[in-house]
Amino acid sequence: MNRKIMIAVAMGAALVAGATAAISGESEERAVNARQSLMHLYAFNLGQLGAMVKGEMEYNADLAKASADNLVKASTMNGMAMWPKGSSMDAEGMAGKTWAKADIWADGSDIGEKAKALREAAAQMADVAGNGLDAVKGAMGGVGGACKGCHEKFRAPKN
Ligand code: HEC
Repeated sequence: MNRKIMIAVAMGAALVAGATAAISGESEERAVNARQSLMHLYAFNLGQLGAMVKGEMEYNADLAKASADNLVKASTMNGMAMWPKGSSMDAEGMAGKTWAKADIWADGSDIGEKAKALREAAAQMADVAGNGLDAVKGAMGGVGGACKGCHEKFRAPKN
């Protein structure tokens, strides 16, 4: 096959793939999977800190700092592609796959503020997480509150 034909074939395949994704909502589902995975990273790292606070795990400065740093990194990712318009639980074919409320994309939505609140709380946690259990305890409410603040408004219960 000469080069020109190969390029044409490759472009045709890309177009077909794009059309399939649009018809089946596949790209929305991938975005949903990505953002739910991000949420699980939050939950895991916060869980490490939570276990120390609850006394289920011995306080470990390195682990506490690492978990807090991970929260900072995860919360500072650019999430644009993970939250495409039309991927709410009310969108066609999305019920039972996502619990993201359509309010996220509504005019005047303050989802950006809620995301910022988590970034700030995670940064505060990272500043002190290596300084002892009391410091972790002190910063815990801010992080947990930031998760809750967004969920209460923008996430529907799963059942
Ligand atoms: C800016 C808003 C926002 C913040 C901040 C936020 N979440 Fe979420 N979270 C959501 C939304 C929206 C969903 C539903 C996503 C979906 O189903 O597509 C969700 C879903 C989840 C889920 C369920 C994932 C699944 O597989 O269904 C978990 C667990 C979770 N969040 C944990 C956390 C934790 C822990 C934090 C704080 C460290 C946090 N979230 C911070 C908006 C947020």
